[in-house]
This record gives sequence, structure tokens and C-alpha cells, in this order.
Amino acid sequence: MRIYILLFLTVLSFSCDDSSKKATLQTQTESSKALTTADAMVVSARAEASEIGVSIMKKGGNAFDAMVATEMALAVTYPFAGNLGGGGFMVYRETNGNTGTLDFREKAPLAATKKMYQNENGEVDKRASRYGGLAVGVPGTVAGIFAVHQKFGSLPMDTILKPVIDLARKGFIVTENQQTRLEKYRDEFLQQNKDSILFSYPHQTGDTIKNKALAATLERIIKNGRDEFYNGRTGDKLIRFLENNGGIMTKEDLKNYEVRWRDPIEVQYKDLKIISMPPPSSGGIVLGQILKMIEPYPLVEYGHNKLAYIQLLTEAERRAYADRSFYLGDPDFVEIPTDSLLSDRYLKKRMKNFNLNKATSSSEINYGKISGFESMETTHYSIVDSLGNAVSVTTTLNGAYGSKMYIEELGFFLNNEMNDFSAKPGVPNMFGLIGAEANSIAPEKRMLSSMTPTIVEKDNELFMVVGSPGGSTIITSVLQTILNVHSFEMSMQEAVDAPRFHHQWLPDEVLFEPNAFDQELLDSLQQRGYNVNQKDSQIIGKVNAIKVLPNGMLEGGADRRGDEAARGY
Ligand code: GLY
Repeated sequence: MRIYILLFLTVLSFSCDDSSKKATLQTQTESSKALTTADAMVVSARAEASEIGVSIMKKGGNAFDAMVATEMALAVTYPFAGNLGGGGFMVYRETNGNTGTLDFREKAPLAATKKMYQNENGEVDKRASRYGGLAVGVPGTVAGIFAVHQKFGSLPMDTILKPVIDLARKGFIVTENQQTRLEKYRDEFLQQNKDSILFSYPHQTGDTIKNKALAATLERIIKNGRDEFYNGRTGDKLIRFLENNGGIMTKEDLKNYEVRWRDPIEVQYKDLKIISMPPPSSGGIVLGQILKMIEPYPLVEYGHNKLAYIQLLTEAERRAYADRSFYLGDPDFVEIPTDSLLSDRYLKKRMKNFNLNKATSSSEINYGKISGFESMETTHYSIVDSLGNAVSVTTTLNGAYGSKMYIEELGFFLNNEMNDFSAKPGVPNMFGLIGAEANSIAPEKRMLSSMTPTIVEKDNELFMVVGSPGGSTIITSVLQTILNVHSFEMSMQEAVDAPRFHHQWLPDEVLFEPNAFDQELLDSLQQRGYNVNQKDSQIIGKVNAIKVLPNGMLEGGADRRGDEAARGY
């Protein structure tokens, strides 16, 4: 299998666009990304964040203390998705086998209305939910870390956040990927902020970025607790900033914000128990539906990334994403038929017309029209501590750098999570996802997500911690990573590095990572009625995962597609 991955990477290295150049660079570091350790591990989007998480565990902290540190370290080093101004989800499994989830997803402000992005003719203003004050949902991340710390933390908050504050003050090194992203979004930073911001200066690879404003914000948060953000000076500044930028969020919105502890979605797939995020994420249900739909078929016989395998996964994905679009939303507002959606009988019926000779058309499944894809927003990290506690967290600003609006005096970007609502039934969001009434906008409602932080048990023991960024492609990236390990016996690193594909019902096309699948295979798919798209996504997902080996060692998988890094001891 290792030979296969290296072959794939060599193919990528001959392509000539920018992202392929990055893939070439990653080729040289791929083998150094694989890591096996005895006791504890963090795999995240930045080496510094993984190192800080590990340092907290070395000081005697547990996986939950490390979660708080890693989350905030990503806000410093990876402002593309790491955040104070966004939200996320955590799935956990304690060493005694107890499982649960934390929902720190953003909420719509009290003044939000169902048609707030529609004009008088009912046409959707596509920019308004992505840029400017109206795009911003009430942030949940700071409440999230305090909730985790209160329930599970073992070290004091100042001990946990000290290395993060030191890093913000001393600065972090700009990577090549980071330079490319900052260049790409510079004009939008200037446009949205009507001025230069810390991240709009021309930072080169190897430069150091110091974020003293963020260090000061974190110091105030240590001193004053959660209230500093939701009922204090930081919150006041945030609201004032939004008022000056067309926002509708008020101090009351911040005061009202609460996280939710929710029961996970648990699905048995062969000898694995999949423990994942319930609504308002679609991740757990859609992942569970796909796994149950493909369970009766001989995946290994079909072969990894071979024709029948791609067809089977695509058809299951098509059906599950169609259900996502209609049934899923915030469970505090809408009734979700979770048991029916995951029942064997229902899923068997859904696959009744699956046929290896011909694609099902998405119009036979349901309706809609769609725009293109954005790619790699959001970020995921996985943690296991020396006691065996496991934490799987996906956190986001939604778009790259969220709304692009940056509060200079606080040192962080604000999300544009309102775009994850369905602005109008049948009109796609920026990920091309179509929603219905279940995901319509309402005051204090949480927008539907695709984030899929997941923990997998095998024989009642911790087996894998896994998740990914990538908007609508998150779920299928997590799915393929689990199958790569379970059905195709790949190492964790091989599993996250293997080429991926994606289908989401609408648009009715299978998205492939370019140059990673052979043309004959793609031609065969086309002959069977599949629309093949290799252009819209250079990469699909960036999975950060940990596998527990039979001897108890931890094997990290830090996706070759980014600056992802595993650290541990
Ligand atoms: N904002 C991406 C997601 O929640 O799925």
C-alpha cells in the first residue's frame, strides 16, 4: 500500500498548477508525517498547535485540557479556520467508555429572519450571508472551551492557555501554504475591513506573525472567564464592531449564548461502532446512513477506489445527501426522524434501485440546481491522552477566514456561518448544499453543519479518532478514511493520504481529486452515466486522525494535503 501512495504522489508531482506544486512539496515530507507513539497524541492543522496540546498532557493535563489548548493555538496559528469568532463540535470518549458530544455551534442572532437574505422579489442575495456583519452567527467557541474545561478539565485555565499566549506574543512562522492563502484573500481582507489588517500585509514564507491583540484578549479571558467574551469588554467591542459593519447581533445575543451537550449518533458498522455528531450537524446521520447502505456489499472484492467501489459509495452518498437536504436542521427547532433515517429497513429500501450497470440520476431521487464548490475551510484535530480519553473536534469560521472581517483590537476573524442556513428552500449555499424548511433561518437557531468529528470503537475499545474540514466533503472524507483502515487495512497515514472522491446528490456529479484516478476508470464511470468532475476541487478534505494499534500504540495520520502535523510521546 505504501508503494501505491508514493506512486500517486509522484503522479501529482508532474502536474503544473499551484496546488500540485504544493502536493509535490508534501511528497517530500509525507513519510516524516507518519508518527507512532506509546502514550498520547495530537494531530492538527499546525505543528505548533499539536505541540502545545501535547505539552499540556506532558504537564499532567488530560485530552480535554489539551483540547482547550489546541483549539486556542489554532486560533493563533491557523486563522484560516482556527477561531474565537466561530464555533464547532466535539465528540469524546472517556477512558471508561462513556461517550458524548458538545455542540458549540454558532446561532442566528435574535433579530435574524427567515427571509433576511432575500429581496422583495424573493431573490437570494448570495453575498449577504458570506460577507459583512449580516453573515456572522453568534460565536460559540469561547463558551465551548469553558464548558469542556468545567466538565472535564484537570489543569487551571491559565496553565493551559499560557503557552498559547506566549506563542501569540512571540509569533508563529508563516508556512508556504499559509503565504499562498494570505495572498489569495488579501484583496478581500482589504475590501471587507476597509483598511489593512494584521493579515493583509505581504507575509512571506518564514516570516513571523505576532498577534499581540489576541494575546491580550486571551489574557482578559483567563482573568474574567467566559463572561469576558459574552458579557464583558471583549463582547462589547465585538458588538460595536458589528454595529459599524451592518450586523444585527446585540449584547443580548452574546448573553443568551449557550452550548449544548448532546447524545452522539451511534451506528454499528460490521464490527465497528461509529460514534459521531448529531444534529445540528448532519455528519453523524449521513455518515451512518452511507455506512449502513454499503454494509451488505463486498467492498474488498470491489477493490479500493475501483469502479464498483466508487459506484457503490457514490450511490449511497447520493441518497444520504438527498435526505440531509430535506430532513436535517437544528433539533431544538425541528423534529428529526433520526431512528427512521438510520433504520436498516429504510436504508435497504433506499438502495433497492442501485445498479452497477447504470448511475441513478439525482433527479430520480429529488430536485435542484447548484453552483461550484469552495474547498478547505474549517479544521479538525484529534487527541488521545495517556489514560485513553479521546477527543475529536472540528471547528470553523465557515468560509476561509470566515466573513474576512477581522477585529484588529481583539485579534480574531468573525465567522460567516449564517451561509450554512438555507436562505431559501432549493437555493444552494456556498458548498452547493441545498436545504429545505428544516434548515430555514430563525432567531437563535443553529445552522445545519456537515462537520463530522467521529470516534470509532472496535470490540468495545477505542479504535480511531477521525475528522476533516471541507464543507460538504467532510462526511465523505471521514467515510473513506474509516473504510481505508477497516476494509483495506491501511496504516493511519496511508488512510488519510489516499486519493478521495465525493458525491452529494446535487450537483449530480462525482468530484475527484485531479490526477489521482486513472482515465480509463473515469471513462468507465462516464459510460455508466456518472458526471465526472476533476476541476472544482484540487483536494478533498484534510483528515487528521489517530488509530489505536492492537499493541496499544497510537498511530497518527496527518493529511499530506496541508501543514497538518502529528505530535505525541
Ligand atoms: N461551515 C461548514 C460546516 O459546518 O459544515
